[in-house]
Amino acid sequence: MTEVTKRILVTGGTGLVGRAIEKVVADGEGRPDEEWIFVSSRDADLTSSSETKALFERHKPTHVIHLAAMVGGLFKNIRSNLDFWRTNIHINDNVLHSAHESGVQKVVSCLSTCIFPDKTTYPIDETMIHNGPPHSSNFGYSYAKRMIDVQNRGYSEQHGRRFTAVIPTNVFGPHDNFNIEDGHVLPGLIHKVYLAKQSGSALTVWGTGKPRRQFIYSLDLARLFLWVLREYDEVEPIILSVGEEDEVSIREAAEAIAEAMEFRGELVFDTTKSDGQFKKTASNAKLRRYLPEFQFTPFRKAVKETCTWFNANYANARK
Ligand SMILES: NC(=O)c1ccc[n+]([C@@H]2O[C@H](COP(=O)([O-])OP(=O)(O)OC[C@H]3O[C@@H](n4cnc5c(N)ncnc54)[C@H](OP(=O)(O)O)[C@@H]3O)[C@@H](O)[C@H]2O)c1
Repeated sequence: MTEVTKRILVTGGTGLVGRAIEKVVADGEGRPDEEWIFVSSRDADLTSSSETKALFERHKPTHVIHLAAMVGGLFKNIRSNLDFWRTNIHINDNVLHSAHESGVQKVVSCLSTCIFPDKTTYPIDETMIHNGPPHSSNFGYSYAKRMIDVQNRGYSEQHGRRFTAVIPTNVFGPHDNFNIEDGHVLPGLIHKVYLAKQSGSALTVWGTGKPRRQFIYSLDLARLFLWVLREYDEVEPIILSVGEEDEVSIREAAEAIAEAMEFRGELVFDTTKSDGQFKKTASNAKLRRYLPEFQFTPFRKAVKETCTWFNANYANARK
């Protein structure tokens, strides 16, 4: 029997990305020398340094995928910038420092393309994270996430640690948060289409429908996370995204969902609602230098799978 040499602790293991990693590992991408431990806030409140320390003492991980975060869509961010800043700063400092103190060999944390400077040139790349203020709608979340990169550099320079981060674009898939008020745009739209279909009403999309986004399917992101954990040796972060040519408008995303859900009603755009950042086009050139052959699931296929999951799991989905 192969000896287990890697104990991989996944914080945020019950969220959208954590569940996707769990599925990919269970479906055959896990290796015999790896033990995977998925934890949620029930195992430890990571805003508490003592609970975080106890979690690390309990599981003694050699590797960590750090996903736990206060996460939300545009409108929740606008309402709660201070909470996003404080919660995420505490979680990240507790996790990274416990990992350092307990001798974890490698940590992969999760940033996001929505933390990049608002005023920038496109496409955005990994060198531009700190080049100016983020969009005002999510400054709390953005600055807290940027500080992970600062800490990773610090742990590397001062202690020789291999702590790094990935930068995904908008993620979606099964187990997302489908809450219309607080969730991200795509799961929120899926939920709205579900309800509009039930009531026979129009689908109201918030904003003009013109902003553009690169969406990544959670199961594709999960496969990339495994590669980063095993193969990627830089401390500098890496953008995990579909190509620039795969960016879609919110209108196109809504149309893809309507088609997947067989919704035949009208699409209405409520232009009194904020659009958020117009675009945040990211370059995946660095990823492509490492993994030129990686195949992303086509957007419409991934949307279809997510809608099918939501329809089948409506009663228990987060909403
Ligand atoms: N979703 C996106 O579009 C997107 C895009 C780019 C980057 N990201 C990043 O990807 C990572 C995962 O996001 P996600 O969408 O999977 O998030 P999610 O579905 O909202 O899940 C969040 C996870 O964090 C855990 N968590 C939250 N607060 C915690 C606390 N105080 N102590 C311990 N655990 C806590 C939750 O545990 P419970 O289930 O117990 O609450 C849950 O497992 C995050 O770092 C996020 O910033 C997400």
